[in-house]
This record gives sequence, structure tokens and C-alpha cells, in this order.
Amino acid sequence: MAFPITRLRRLRQNEVTRNMIRETRLTKDDLIMPLFVRPGKGVQNPIKSMPGNYQLSVDMLVEKCKELHGLGVQSILLFGIPEHKDEHGLVACQDNGIVQQATRAIKKALPDLFVIADVCNCEYTTHGHCGTIIDGDVDNDSTLITLGKQSVSLAQAGVDMIAPSDMMDGRVGSIRKALDDNKFTNMPIMAYSAKYASAFYGPFRDAAESAPQFGNRATYQMDPANSNEAMREVQQDIIEGADIVMVKPALSYLDIINRVKTEFNMPVCAYNVSGEFSMVKAAAANGWVDEERITLEILTSIKRAGADMIISYHTQDVMGLL
Ligand code: PBG
Repeated sequence: MAFPITRLRRLRQNEVTRNMIRETRLTKDDLIMPLFVRPGKGVQNPIKSMPGNYQLSVDMLVEKCKELHGLGVQSILLFGIPEHKDEHGLVACQDNGIVQQATRAIKKALPDLFVIADVCNCEYTTHGHCGTIIDGDVDNDSTLITLGKQSVSLAQAGVDMIAPSDMMDGRVGSIRKALDDNKFTNMPIMAYSAKYASAFYGPFRDAAESAPQFGNRATYQMDPANSNEAMREVQQDIIEGADIVMVKPALSYLDIINRVKTEFNMPVCAYNVSGEFSMVKAAAANGWVDEERITLEILTSIKRAGADMIISYHTQDVMGLL
């Protein structure tokens, strides 16, 4: 029917009908809060480029988790900043590694809080790359071995889910095998499947102290110009056993989120990354945008595009609004 029989404004006149026809609803269950843990006691280092976010020592992290859980946060994603880095990132595989310690402490205090661990070498290597360097580039297959070890170690520490973010070929299959060989057949893998080589990670690299010391990540992370290639990445990860597939970043990649959801019908996670968060904070601090409204609009749009869950630094701020 055409106008004047059809008038789309009819259902917009009343808040009740607006609520009735709302197609996308953001809930507390959709959101995952990333947190950074470092050695020490009583440490709470503000991350300048990410207002409201901190590098926390384990004791302070546990307090932060209690606060978040009290606000209704169900799930967190842990990143570690180790005391010492090494050439191959083996510090990430140690039973007393920083994320392993943090996981045990959180699980002891809050057994119900769902703990996801990022699996990658870049925070743990002296060169800041996501794997083992051979002949000046990250070597795929030797990195797989370290990633498997790191995953098993994190599983032994008690994490609820593993999230590999390195972008090596074959990592999901090889992590799956390492977990299964160690009886962790029920440990889910949330794969950073379509992870782009993005300038939006800038603030994160300060937060995690993980900037590459030479070159960039373009030989393993994806070219922002590509969409079909993202489908191939996702397809590979599904074949290898990924339980959840992720698109990262989120805002400039809503088309990718939508394609992944419609083409694969898998549970999809989107990572609303550090740069996306910091841009909102900077504009809001200048009084240029309404932070509350713009944050909810962004998160809702990511869900509308097809994400079932969103990793976001805005998680704590929006809990009270949901
Ligand atoms: C590690 C990793 C990165 C992010 C998550 N895991 C950084 C990178 O690839 O350089 C970025 C997260 C963010 O920007 O919020 N590989």
C-alpha cells in the first residue's frame, strides 16, 4: 500500500507502540568487558588514551570484577601485561603467568563470572608481534605450538572460554586439538576470525604494551578493504571447530558482521575496539556529542547488524542504562 493509506509515522506517535515495534534490544547479557591485568599489588594505572580503563594488579582486578558483577556484568575478557617478555612469548604459557594468576583469583572470589582469555603472543613477546619471528616475519606453524600451550595453560587455570586473536592460519584447529588432548573437550573457542589490520587498535597497544617494535601486522591481520576474504577466514575457523566467530573492529565493519551472520548463521561476536571507544570519550569530553545516547546508539547498531554479543569498553558505563 502506498501513501496516504500507509503512513509509517502512525506507530511512531506513541512510546508504547514505539517500544512494541522495536526490532533490536540491547541487554546486559550481550556485553563483555575487557580488562587488563599486570603484576604488583594495589596497582591501578590509568590508561591515558582510554578514560576510565586501568592496568590493574590481581588484587585490584578482583575488586573491579566484584564491582562489575554487582552491576550485572556477566562476562569479562582478560589481557595480561607480564613482568618479563621473551622472544617467543613463552611467559604466556606458564602456570603462574599473569592471566593464569588473575583467573584463579577471580574464580575463587566470583565463581559465576564468565572469564574469557585472549590468546595471542603480542603482549608477551619482546618484539610485540603476535608470534614467533623467523627471517623477519611471524612464522605461522611454530606460533601454533605456542598458542596451543598458552590455551591449555589458561584452561588449567580455570578460564571459561579461549579467544585466539593472533590470526595465524590453522590456529583454531590446532588449539582445539591441544585442548581436546588435555581433556578440555568442553572448552569453547571464540575465534577472532575476521580481524583487520586496523588503526582503531591504537589505544589498546598502549594499554597492553603490545605495539610491534618493527613493521606492522599486515602479514597476518586482514586488509580493511576485503569482505570476501573475511568469509573465507570465518569458514576456515568454523571448519576447524570455532564455537563463536568474531569480527573486529565493529563500527567500520558492520557490513562484515551482517554478512557473517547471514551467510553462516553462527553465534557472532563483535569487538567494539579501543579506538572506537576513545573517539567517543574524546568527543564527549569536549561536549561535542551526548555520550550516553551515542554509546547506546553504537552498541545497538552493532547488534542490529547481526552481532549476538559485543566486547566493549563501554560495558561498565552502560550497565545502569539497560
Ligand atoms: C592482540 C589484540 C589486539 C586487540 C585485541 N587483541 C591488538 C592488536 O592486534 O594489535 C585490540 C583490541 C582493541 O583495540 O581494543 N592481538
